[in-house]
Amino acid sequence: MILSDDEKRMLDGSCGPGVQKAMELQVALGKAFDAERMIDVSRAHVALSGQEGDTYWCELLVNGGAVCRVTPTTNPCWDVRNLTNHYGVSQAELDLALRTIDVYRRIGARLTFCCTPELAGNVPSFGEHVAFSESSATPYVNSVLGARSSRESSVSALAAAVTGKTPLYGLHFEENRRGTLLVDVDFWPEEPYDWGLLGWCIGEFAGSAVPVLRFRHMPRRPSPEALLYLGAELNTSGAVAMYHIVGVTPEAPTLEAAFGGNPVPASSRPIVMADLKAKEEELSEEGGPINLVMLGCPHYSHDQIRELEVLMRGRKVRDGVAFWVLTSFDALELAERSGERRRLEEAGVRLVPDTCIDEPCWKSFEGGLGVTDSPKCMYYRERRGQPFVVRRLAECVEAAVKGEVQ
Ligand code: F3S
Repeated sequence: MILSDDEKRMLDGSCGPGVQKAMELQVALGKAFDAERMIDVSRAHVALSGQEGDTYWCELLVNGGAVCRVTPTTNPCWDVRNLTNHYGVSQAELDLALRTIDVYRRIGARLTFCCTPELAGNVPSFGEHVAFSESSATPYVNSVLGARSSRESSVSALAAAVTGKTPLYGLHFEENRRGTLLVDVDFWPEEPYDWGLLGWCIGEFAGSAVPVLRFRHMPRRPSPEALLYLGAELNTSGAVAMYHIVGVTPEAPTLEAAFGGNPVPASSRPIVMADLKAKEEELSEEGGPINLVMLGCPHYSHDQIRELEVLMRGRKVRDGVAFWVLTSFDALELAERSGERRRLEEAGVRLVPDTCIDEPCWKSFEGGLGVTDSPKCMYYRERRGQPFVVRRLAECVEAAVKGEVQ
């Protein structure tokens, strides 16, 4: 790779061993992807997981003197102030969470602990080169905002925050952002939930392609939450870091523009509403009594909290069922100020910031059946030993009130 003098100094250790480690990783990544050089990034988001590998990497850099050049926002870990009061975790698990929070503070990250930075807190503009990890955030910044990010890992995104650079490859190039696969959608997905299932269906066959979604009819523009759910699932069942929706996303004003001048494929992959219902059944466990309703993967917005509050009016969560909504610090603050938090808590629904579904703080529910509106939540929780049924929001509320799901 051709490196600038600044980049060479980082690589030869002149800026300290922590910065050197970060640059070594980026050069190795650049060589793996045949990048000729580095480019500057103006923003970063680090999908820290609160797990040993990510925390070790950050400690390695910070103990070597590294401080972020570009202040990154951070993904959730878990809310140690709140959740240790509810659920038992081991001392080792608590210590790891505290180490994680401490080391990301020391390296100069902005501790947002939120997985939807692209909605508030870290919003790139069109054409901006950034380094965003987090499977729901990367497709959103590329596809919806028109910013340019590789499909970064937590490790490479933190390296980018430290050096202020990223290898020039992949979606940083115009030609790699063009559509490579046409998907015809025969129906209009009404709720973010439907967009999530649609994303899961497409991700399964798209792999790392750039799908172009063409809707037969489009009664209105999709909401930010709908697009967030679409990208989150495209990038969980598949590895889709960029998609286009004809007439919606900024690089696809027309079908021809979505393919960037390349020939529009003669055939497409069709998706019909029945595919979503079939996928819901395939992803879900058998129904039965539940011990948990878990929403907010990705983190619920204030609009979603408001919608839930309306659905819960006059109703109560059944004894023996925990109902948690994971949300961002700003949505939580709005819910506090606007009164939804108090009303939801009176109904038995609790909101928590800073927290991911894939953390040890939820382990006391493992073995029981959960309900969620997020296939991504189902996917990660099942790996930790809790089966889930995937249902739309109104059905999650019904399940919470009855204590069981059909
Ligand atoms: Fe967010 Fe964790 Fe889900 S980072 S998208 S709550 S897996």
